[in-house]
Amino acid sequence: MPALVIIPTYNERQSLPGVVARLRRAVPAAHVLVADDASPDGTGEWSDAAAAADDHIHVLHRVAKEGLGKAYLAGFAWGLEGGFDPLVEMDADGSHRPEQLPSLLAAVDSGADLAIGSRWVKGGEVVNWPRRRQWLSRGGNFYVSVMLGLGVKDATAGFRVYRASLLRALGLDGVQAHGYAFQVDMTRAARRAGARVVEVPISFPEREAGVSKMSGSIVREAMWLVTKWGLARWWGALTGRRREAEAKAQAQP
Ligand code: GDD
Ligand code: MN
Repeated sequence: MPALVIIPTYNERQSLPGVVARLRRAVPAAHVLVADDASPDGTGEWSDAAAAADDHIHVLHRVAKEGLGKAYLAGFAWGLEGGFDPLVEMDADGSHRPEQLPSLLAAVDSGADLAIGSRWVKGGEVVNWPRRRQWLSRGGNFYVSVMLGLGVKDATAGFRVYRASLLRALGLDGVQAHGYAFQVDMTRAARRAGARVVEVPISFPEREAGVSKMSGSIVREAMWLVTKWGLARWWGALTGRRREAEAKAQAQP
């Protein structure tokens, strides 16, 4: 089954055409699904024209800007329905280099259920990223590792390859996060499912056109959810241990 690369877009008219062209060249067998949230800048119209000219390009028009998470969930549902395998997440702005997708696909080919394109493992890097964003990402990942212990260096990374069977097993109705915390939520779900997760180093250049959709409310959502999940995890570990001790005490004659 061919791979499906899902590209969520909101106002990416300037960046998307170049990224799609590079992607079609880098992995010609892969299909592309643009999941556009009714961008006012013409991203959806460009995508329709591209889809009409190329049978490997598809468009999912969504009615309003509802966040990265919802766009991906809709894209996953579309891709699973169509029988694609694996399913790929990729940004439209050039920060995820299509030329590096083959190394992520290779990781899944050789046994991983989830391959994460990682900026913070050996060999990974960010290029031209403002210092503020670097610290936000490093700090966020540090907090995630302390609270959740997911065992990955880049839990918020958005360049990923999922084996279709993993997405089917996850039961995506339970995903709570809409913004960038979506990536953390998916990593938790994968861990819980016992998935084989590998990080592949990538080079992440800052976008050259358009603007980031990162916002205060996206950061707040991530902070709140990671804190909530972390406390629930600690509470579960504590009460679990106490219950175990009580059971042991009762078992003693
Ligand atoms: N459909 C849709 N709806 N797409 C969206 C939305 C939305 O509400 N918000 C963002 N996107 C799309 C953008 O158009 C782009 O293609 C991609 O999602 C990433 O958005 P950016 O705004 O470029 O994200 P970033 O560069 O600030 O953040 C990157 O780093 C984050 C944290 O490390 C991305 O790689 C994120 O995925 C990552 O979590
Ligand atoms: Mn970006």
